[in-house]
Amino acid sequence: MNVLAKAADLEASAPAGAYVQEVTSVQHYTDNLFKFRMTRPESFRFRSGEFVMIGLMIDGKPLYRAYSIASPSWDEELEFFSIKVPDGPLTQYLQQIKPGDAVLMKKKSTGTLVHDALIPGKRVYMFSTGTGFAPFASLIRDPETYEKFDQVIVTHTCREVSELKYGLDLVEATKNDPLIGEMAQAQLVHYASVTREDYPFKGRITDLIANGKLFDDLGVPRLDPAIDRGMICGSMEMLKDTKDLLEKAGLTEGANNKPAEFVVERAFVG
Ligand code: A2P
Repeated sequence: MNVLAKAADLEASAPAGAYVQEVTSVQHYTDNLFKFRMTRPESFRFRSGEFVMIGLMIDGKPLYRAYSIASPSWDEELEFFSIKVPDGPLTQYLQQIKPGDAVLMKKKSTGTLVHDALIPGKRVYMFSTGTGFAPFASLIRDPETYEKFDQVIVTHTCREVSELKYGLDLVEATKNDPLIGEMAQAQLVHYASVTREDYPFKGRITDLIANGKLFDDLGVPRLDPAIDRGMICGSMEMLKDTKDLLEKAGLTEGANNKPAEFVVERAFVG
């Protein structure tokens, strides 16, 4: 079935409450991962770290899935980092998009991986697995992150080395960015680990926290609720296991209406 339409052709029949946007670039990393960028509606505002509903018209009806926005709030385009599921209701089609194609986006963004949900601290950890890196791709490009914290440690764990490429490329580009490069060079640390292949850093982030290797590798003290803050994005199991470790270290979970020491959000799949 061919469900992909050109943006110009879909504009007149946009579903209620949605924007029709045009894909501007697509990059495939592995059989399971790709990134795409698209135009940003002029009226669309969001906070770095939030997610939005992204969709396509399938059988004449819009089908949406939640996607973290991977670009920062100042970027004039929108970026997304997506999984490809062979028979995923949305991603089996979304993975075929090309520049010029239409993508639907609902008008309201939301989420807990935002600065408003964390109380100030000295160091922020952003723990991610797989496509859970996406909201942090937004936050590490946001100057507010560097104004609020002295040190920003983003961890990304994947099964295989090839799955790290989006994050590795992005951190390098961020450190060379004219707007935030200087801050990122001084304050941003990227810790990438792999669980099913050889790599300098090996293992699940939960094990590396529990056995202290993460902190030894980084040369920083163990988690301290007085100065450390956390943001977590990955699978349901990863969220639960990482959250348990942060709570064991004495950090409490926050929300938009009740900021605290760490926040959690599921990396969405579909
Ligand atoms: P592992 O290879 O040991 O399963 P997935 O694609 O299944 O979401 O996994 C992405 C990464 O997250 C993998 O490196 C995987 O490690 C790791 N992972 C899976 N479950 C957990 C968990 N409960 N806690 C921490 N890391 C996890």
